[in-house]
Formats: sequence, C-alpha cells, structure tokens
Amino acid sequence: MTTISDRVDLEAVDLTDPELFRHGFPHEIFTLLREEAPVWRHPTTPGTARLGGEFWVLSKHADVQSVSRDYKRFRSYEGPTVQDNPPERQGMKLVTMDPPGHTRLRRLISSGFTPRNIANLDEQARTWAGTIIDSALEQGECDFVRDVAYQLPMHMIADIVGIPVADRAWLFDRVNLFKRSQDPRTALPDSERTAVELEVFQYAHDLGLEKRRCPAEDVWTTLTEAEVDDDDGGRTQLTDLELEMFFIVLAIAGSETVREAITAGLIALLGHPEQLERMRSEPEVMPSAVEEILRWSSPADYFRRTATEDVEIRGVPIAAGERVTVWFPSANRDAEVFGDPFRFDITRQKNPHVAFGGGGVHYCLGANLAKREIQVMFEELVRRVGDIEILGDPVYTASGVVDAITCTIAHLPVRLTPRLKWDDSTARRTRTPSRISAS
Ligand code: HEM
Repeated sequence: MTTISDRVDLEAVDLTDPELFRHGFPHEIFTLLREEAPVWRHPTTPGTARLGGEFWVLSKHADVQSVSRDYKRFRSYEGPTVQDNPPERQGMKLVTMDPPGHTRLRRLISSGFTPRNIANLDEQARTWAGTIIDSALEQGECDFVRDVAYQLPMHMIADIVGIPVADRAWLFDRVNLFKRSQDPRTALPDSERTAVELEVFQYAHDLGLEKRRCPAEDVWTTLTEAEVDDDDGGRTQLTDLELEMFFIVLAIAGSETVREAITAGLIALLGHPEQLERMRSEPEVMPSAVEEILRWSSPADYFRRTATEDVEIRGVPIAAGERVTVWFPSANRDAEVFGDPFRFDITRQKNPHVAFGGGGVHYCLGANLAKREIQVMFEELVRRVGDIEILGDPVYTASGVVDAITCTIAHLPVRLTPRLKWDDSTARRTRTPSRISAS
C-alpha cells in the first residue's frame, strides 16, 4: 500500500503555484505536513521570489490557535497574505491593523454584527433565500454558485452596508472580477485590474457622500459619520482610503466565503444523501450541520502574520520579521482534535473548528451572520427543493497564496426540481418524491 509520503515529496511542493489548488484545497499535502513538518519553512521557488521571499507554514490546530491569539508576537500590519500589502495600505484596514488602532476601528462596526442584531435579520434572510431558490427553480437548470449560493450573502451584506438593490449586480460583478483576476487563467492585465478596483473605490466614495446627504440605519452611514480616537488623544473621521479599504473587505469577506460554504456544503451533502434527508426530517440537527459544513469547507484558507520577535514553535526557531502563515482547512482536519477528520458528519458534537480564524482580536467579524445565512439557506433548500442533480464538475478559481482564499468553486451546474407541486386537476398540493442526487 502506498503512503502519502510515497505520493507527495515535500521538497517539490510549491504552494505559490495556483495549479496546486485547481481542484480544491490540497489536503493530501497538508496531511503530510501535519505529520512530518508541522512548522514548515516553504522552500525558495520562483513564486516565493515573486511574493517577497520564504514563509513559514503552520498546519496544526493548536499552532493556528496560539499564533492567531498572540497579536503581540505575531502582528498583522503587513497584511493577511504572503506578499506584503503596499506600504500605503498597511495599517489602513482591519486585517492590516493591530491593537490599539484595530480595537478602535473594530468597535465602531462590531455592533452591527452581534448575535442579537443578526437574529433581527433572520426574516430578511429567509425572504431572500425563498426568492432566490424559487427563481432558480423556475429556471430548472442553473449555475448553483451564481444563481443560488452567491445571491444570499451578497444581498445580506448589501442590506447591512446600505447598498441600493439596483447597484448590487453591477457592484458585485466588479468585486468578483477583481477576485477572479488573481487566477492566472482568468487574469486581467494590471491596468484593468487597477481600473476595476478604482471603480469599486469610487462607488464606495459616492455612497459615502450619499449617506452624508441622507443618513440611514446602516453600516455605511455609521462609518462615514463616525469619529474615532486618534493616537494623539484627539478625534478624527475615517479617511477616504480607510473607508474604501473597509468597503472592499466587507464586500469580499461578506460574500465570497459564505457562497463557498454553501456550495461546498451542498456537494458534501449530495455525497451523503442520508445526512441530507436527516436535515430535512430533523430540523434540530441544523446548528451542528452548519458547524460541520464550516469545518468541512473552511472557505478562508490561510492568514499571515509577521513575527515581531524571535520565537520558537515546536522547537523550531522563527526569527523576528519572518512571515508566518496559519492554515485553517488543515487545522480543521487535524486528527489530534477531530475524530475521523475526513468523515463528513452533520451530527458531530465536538467541533472546535477554526473556519473563522483561530480566535483572538481578528476573529471573523461576520461569523454570526455567516452561520445564520448558511442555516437559513439549507433550511429553505430542503423545504422547497425535491431533487438537486449536479450536471457537471465544479469549476474552481485558483489563485494560490496570492490570496488568503486560495481557491473557490466558481461554477456548479445543477438541475433543481421543486419539492411541492400544484396538481391542477384537483387543485391540491401534492408532494413530489423527495430525492436529492448527484449524477
Ligand atoms: C463562511 C463564511 C466566513 C468565513 C469562513 C470567514 C473567515 C474569516 C477568517 C478566517 C478571518 C480571519 C481571522 C483571523 O485572522 O484570526 C476573517 C476575518 C474577517 N471576516 Fe470573515 N469569514 C466569513 C464570513 C464573513 C462575513 C459574512 C463577513 C461580513 C461582515 C466577514 C467579515 C470579516 C472581517 C471584516 C474580518 C476581519 C476582522 C478583523 O481583522 O478584525 N466574514 N473571516
């Protein structure tokens, strides 16, 4: 029997190669890393040279947690990806800030995302989910990512931020294009990429002006009007650049990740029809199902920190200034923490997954929102849809470590059949057989 080390040669692994992520997260490589080199210095490759040098790869659950929680020894200032953010953007958005500046900015916005506020949005989420699924059912055959999974998080974050409905398709199309441009296969020339980013920044700027003219009960009004303490003891408003950066983080973080969890969750459930049936017949299983979908899909792949002093992890010395990446999908398959980690089980009880980060000051701001969206979407799917058939292989966007989200499912062709049908002859509601399948 061949072992992973027969199949994977760590010396030859290059995480900067997007092709490694073309069919999803390379779990086999990370299983070997957890076993043989949990604190691994990525070898020099043409990719590391392009991204600014070598970096450390941490694959164990315990290390992901301890680094994430130690902002003093592992700072975020240079940015969340292997490559440093450009100097003018460092310290300008939540993910490139450290306390105390980070704490001030985060406090400003976090009230919009508490469990209580998110619970208040439940009906809104359910209405969106119902409308989205019914419209996909009318089409019959559709792209599950574009027509279903993407729609709910996009509308929810847009409702929260205060983006008018008429602007959403255009705006999120730009955000998507910007993200896809990091995949070499769908790359845009630098000038076009910058142009797309500028369009989004300009939109954020115009929306801010509009909110100043007509304040509303939304996050963008809060942010454009807010004053924060500055380091000199005074009060200051957020700069245009800070606001634009915030906008991009919310638009991307608030939509792409949830979309991925819903799509990957659906694929996992179609592979385990008995668990899908259980979701339908035992609604009380939903909360643990959502946690398992998050563990299983882990849509954010890694975040990077920079060591502020010489440290040792598992006896391996890491020098001040070196880049340290923590890998969430890998931590979520760590056999030291999860029993039978490669088994998808919606009833899993002990599930301390790190899909939203390993804890600490940067723990995902949208975690409560994301969980509600995933739950509502699956509740409505099992209620309204009788049969889901996958019509082709998922197509991935793969950017590799250029982005903290190294790969996502960009397209998934499906055929949806409604669960309930009107029988015209008797004007009675009759149930279609409930079958959900992958072909
Ligand atoms: C399944 C969905 C999601 C996943 C898997 C996810 C994952 C993550 C992860 C891993 C981090 C970094 C944590 C760290 O560095 O310790 C993060 C940060 C963040 N997420 Fe999410 N996220 C999701 C949904 C959302 C949503 C819906 C929003 C909308 C508001 C959001 C907004 C943010 C923001 C603003 C940050 C930066 C927080 C900070 O630096 O203080 N995320 N997320």
